[in-house]
Amino acid sequence: MTAAAAPDLSLLPKAELHLHIEGTLEPELIFHLAERNRVPMRYSDVDELRSRYKFSSLSDFLALYYDNMAVLVSEADFYDLTRAYLARARSEGLRHVEIFFDPQAHTARGVPLEVVLAGLGEAARASQRDFGVSSALIPNFLRDRPLEEAMSMLSGLLGSDAPIVAVGLDSAEVGNPPARFAALFDLARASGLHGVAHAGEEGPASYVWEALDVLRVQRVDHGVRSMEDPALVDRLRDEGTPLTVCPLSNVVLGGFATLSGHPVAAMLSAGLHVTVNSDDPAYFGGYIGENYARVAATFGLDRAALAQLARNAIMAAFVGPARRAELLDELDRWEGSRAQLVG
Ligand code: ADE
Ligand code: ZN
Repeated sequence: MTAAAAPDLSLLPKAELHLHIEGTLEPELIFHLAERNRVPMRYSDVDELRSRYKFSSLSDFLALYYDNMAVLVSEADFYDLTRAYLARARSEGLRHVEIFFDPQAHTARGVPLEVVLAGLGEAARASQRDFGVSSALIPNFLRDRPLEEAMSMLSGLLGSDAPIVAVGLDSAEVGNPPARFAALFDLARASGLHGVAHAGEEGPASYVWEALDVLRVQRVDHGVRSMEDPALVDRLRDEGTPLTVCPLSNVVLGGFATLSGHPVAAMLSAGLHVTVNSDDPAYFGGYIGENYARVAATFGLDRAALAQLARNAIMAAFVGPARRAELLDELDRWEGSRAQLVG
């Protein structure tokens, strides 16, 4: 008997729910935008910049991630960045994406919120038509900055017509527990937005409890350290809370020394609603297809398990019933096409 060939993961219809658009800024695009905007670069070329992409921790990564954003200045920059990701998304077999962005990281540099939203919004609106990829935006608030700043940013966001579906919380986690942002998430919820938060990436399981109990989030971003707390695992499983896990990110940032030591397979075995995502793929060595492929190869996931990961993401997406049904139908066809081949 011959071993089954690895499935072509670009044909598996996927959804990505944890992707920072600023984390798709590839070195080549950084240099291109730097030239276009006459932003001085401290690196002589792409290779020198790329050689800096070795990180000891989340904060080590964040320093470079925020620094590189200096090249994003105009509406066209935000549009081009998002458009490049969406084109890539299509080629990786993504059918739906929810795009995180960090508005405060841009307004703090003097880029108006309207400029950011115009570029991102235009690219997101064209995405279904041009790439067959539905998309939505999720502004993330920086947990290491004041609540008041986040509240005033939220009112600006609420006044825009950008396709925003939720609010999130990101940036340096340890020492910045979620509870301080309760009023922000209350206002967002009262305004009809969903809530998600990074928790249990580097921070402890108690931050995941807080995100659930105080922010009342519907999904937890990362959440991998939940596995240290059996009562939390029980709760996440019983409530079916989706976790947007980013395996390559966690290894590159030092949360786990190797992918084989990553808890993603144990999380699946524990019955958790796990999704696989790429986080900041330009920095972490792979887009979504690579995350699926490496997890599949490392833990021996078969076609059914891969389809389950894709189904988990579709079920956790902030889409209406008609779009969810379309995505599930496509996934069923992917599974059925294999059944016909075999049968
Ligand atoms: N911002 C961009 N990527 C992030 C991550 N992995 N964790 C927290 N904040 C982020
Ligand atoms: Zn993230």
